[in-house]
Amino acid sequence: MDSIKQAVELARAAEVHRPGALSGSALAAEGPLQRSAESPFNEVRLRADHLEANRIVAHGTSGQNGRYYDMLRTQVLQEMDKKSWQFLAVTSPTAGCGKTVTACNLALSISRLPERSVLLVDLDLRRPAVGNYLGISGTGGVLDVLEGRAPLSSSVVQASVGPNNILVLPGGVSSNSSEWMASQTMGAMLQTIKRDFRSRIVIFDLPPMLLGDDVISILPRIDAALLVAGIGNTTVADIKECQRHLQRTPVIRVVVNKSTETVGSYYGYY
Ligand SMILES: Nc1ncnc2c1ncn2[C@@H]1O[C@H](COP(=O)(O)OP(=O)(O)O)[C@@H](O)[C@H]1O
Ligand SMILES: [Mg+2]
Repeated sequence: MDSIKQAVELARAAEVHRPGALSGSALAAEGPLQRSAESPFNEVRLRADHLEANRIVAHGTSGQNGRYYDMLRTQVLQEMDKKSWQFLAVTSPTAGCGKTVTACNLALSISRLPERSVLLVDLDLRRPAVGNYLGISGTGGVLDVLEGRAPLSSSVVQASVGPNNILVLPGGVSSNSSEWMASQTMGAMLQTIKRDFRSRIVIFDLPPMLLGDDVISILPRIDAALLVAGIGNTTVADIKECQRHLQRTPVIRVVVNKSTETVGSYYGYY
């Protein structure tokens, strides 16, 4: 616990000096993918029980844990709006810190705001999990787009929960994650996303920063980052190392995840 406290202090100190930073089980979805007359995308309705089993809780308005994501959402949007940023990366030092859980919850929380919409892109080609956590199966994904097998429009899924929905570009596993991240093809895909989804906040679920050069390669194409530190997963040295690589990318927040210190919640933010 001492180490995580130190990490938080370190992160705070770094943020104060950073321009643009705030101080501070693959179950099937409810039905098969469908295409309706209203939406140009394949559509799927997400199941609340499946989401909750995967710690995705921000689709509804009730619950303490969901409210933490709403607070995170507000901070993220305030900072992004101020700078007219569109692309947000969610990353962490190492695996298992809670990137995917954070990215999915943040996306759903933003989608509950009127006049806000989100595209969630799974760019963790090492260990994609967005599709599994949300319960989206039977669809291609980002690799189909990168490898030229499918256009973006037929790979994006419109995932609805209650009256709200998010667009999702699910991931795929590649042994060439690092090469893809640095590729012109990736650059072109991101430009297409920027053009075609101009009105949406785009959240990228990235691989861990310290397992390769994947994240470092793609950061110049991203506006801002959330760094998810997992208690029990992340050391002070890990955070320091990440900050070295994040010199030119504003870190909106360091999310301290898996805190057991906050009573009645399994998420703790400082
Ligand atoms: N706050 C939390 N408390 C307990 N377990 C969590 C929490 N956040 C995530 N997890 C669990 O930790 C594991 C890794 O989370 P995940 O979001 O997949 O991490 P990452 O994408 O960084 O590898 C999952 O089993 C997830 O359910
Ligand atoms: Mg993940």
